[in-house]
Amino acid sequence: MKIGFGSDHAGIELKLQLMEYLTAQGHECTDYGNYDPNDRGDDYPVPGRKVAEAIRAGEVEKGVTICGTGLGISLAANKVPGIRACVCSEPYTAAMSVRHNNCQIVSMGARVVGRELAKVIVDAFFGSEFEGGRHAARVDMITQIEKDYGMQ
Ligand code: RB5
Repeated sequence: MKIGFGSDHAGIELKLQLMEYLTAQGHECTDYGNYDPNDRGDDYPVPGRKVAEAIRAGEVEKGVTICGTGLGISLAANKVPGIRACVCSEPYTAAMSVRHNNCQIVSMGARVVGRELAKVIVDAFFGSEFEGGRHAARVDMITQIEKDYGMQ
């Protein structure tokens, strides 16, 4: 699978570790920035938006976003119409975010989860499939909110 990665300075180390981990599993990983862990003035909305737009454009199928908490970067990604990003600190939510919510982005906090837990979380996320059915109708209702605000 083609996977886009994005992080601010707080998430760069974990991002690179996960890119290596998922590349070893055969995924094609692309880094959409940021790149400098010492640039503490960088801004999480930039890579969050880039990963979301890459998914929307079809460059990559899914994404991984990381900042200190996973929150700011996921909030930015979720502003791109059609994108659903979920902050996950454990694998159950990561799996359900795909199975029931058809999320394309798993977001994590590098100051919240450690490397090994993050690996289990991405395994759960990328190992799950959307179940459709009644869940599709609910995801469609989320999309309808975007349409109602002229965002699609
Ligand atoms: C940066 O210090 C921090 O605010 C950022 O990584 C993230 O946690 C924001 O949501």
